Amino acid sequence: MKVLVTGGLGFIGSHTVVELQKKGYEVVIIDDLSNSSIEVLVGITAITGKTPLFEQLDLKEKSKVESFFETHKDIGGVIHFAASKAVGESVEKPLLYYENNLNTLIYMLKSVLQLETSNFIFSSSCTVYGQADMMPITERAPTKPAESPYGNTKQIGEEILIDTCKVNPKLNTISLRYFNPIGAHPSAKIGELPIGVPQNLVPFITQTAAGLRKELSVFGNDYPTPDGTCIRDYIHVVDLANAHVIALERLVNGKNNYNYETYNVGTGKGSTVLEVIHSFEKVSGKKVPYKFAPRRKGDVIQAYADTTKANNELGWQATSSLDEAMRSAWKWEQHIRNI
Ligand code: UD1
Repeated sequence: MKVLVTGGLGFIGSHTVVELQKKGYEVVIIDDLSNSSIEVLVGITAITGKTPLFEQLDLKEKSKVESFFETHKDIGGVIHFAASKAVGESVEKPLLYYENNLNTLIYMLKSVLQLETSNFIFSSSCTVYGQADMMPITERAPTKPAESPYGNTKQIGEEILIDTCKVNPKLNTISLRYFNPIGAHPSAKIGELPIGVPQNLVPFITQTAAGLRKELSVFGNDYPTPDGTCIRDYIHVVDLANAHVIALERLVNGKNNYNYETYNVGTGKGSTVLEVIHSFEKVSGKKVPYKFAPRRKGDVIQAYADTTKANNELGWQATSSLDEAMRSAWKWEQHIRNI
């Protein structure tokens, strides 16, 4: 079966392409290379021995998207990663985010509805829950007003899908709400490639250990948590990639209960920022210089998943520990820095 992966050269997309190919799917990637590199295609090929089809295309170019689908009428499933994802940038450039993340989703859905089978996996985020009232967070937790235009595009994206599914019974969709994806492929042939100064914790840690950054700022040590730092649910990117393949198979095999479903994708375990640093230091043998800094605007105190629904209905669960994820992140950083 042919699967379209938009944003397939990005961090989560590239790992998902590998898992799809390993299971025998024929993969076509669309990516505009705005936040990714063509080198990733080389990494994917080195892991799987197969080069996926690749189209460099900006999904905002509606007519090009339409003609792409004209030549690929046999697509049996779409996994839609392509989107802008920098929270801070989204505050500065809201229209860019609404255009990139929502117009493209609408164009994709219009084309997907023309296919014989319309199976669609959407990249959502735990950011839709805001600071949830109860931990761990179930899918029934209410969504809260988004802290950023980026977060809002995920909420509106889900709403677009809900409304579209209601009137199009042939459209089968799953939104996966990711917690904090980290790590890299164990081969260190693909991984995260942040542009400029990393905003996320784990790439900042690995770049600090590699000597690119002087020290890490830990944002806030006065939160009501055991060590005063924020709690998140860090999930290995390969586990997350597998969740996409399993979710797609649920749709392809007609196992879904509804034509719109959501699943949390996390480990179910919360870790503080200091625990993440200590895990990294343990597996790498490197010290991470850090200082405590003021709280970062928009950060929630804690967010970790209740994964019961994904465990029971998808038959999926995360298998990698925080240590394993940190080890793979460090191996990748060493690979790209030639350390
Ligand atoms: C953010 C996004 C989320 C997105 C995810 C992608 C928000 C509110 N959420 O999650 O939607 O899916 O990135 O991975 O922006 N930290 C430090 N020092 C640093 C960097 C981070 O102490 O230099 C702390 C943060 O305060 C936070 C934790 O590390 O407590 C994780 O931060 P980060 O990796 O940026 O992820 P989130 O903010 O949880």
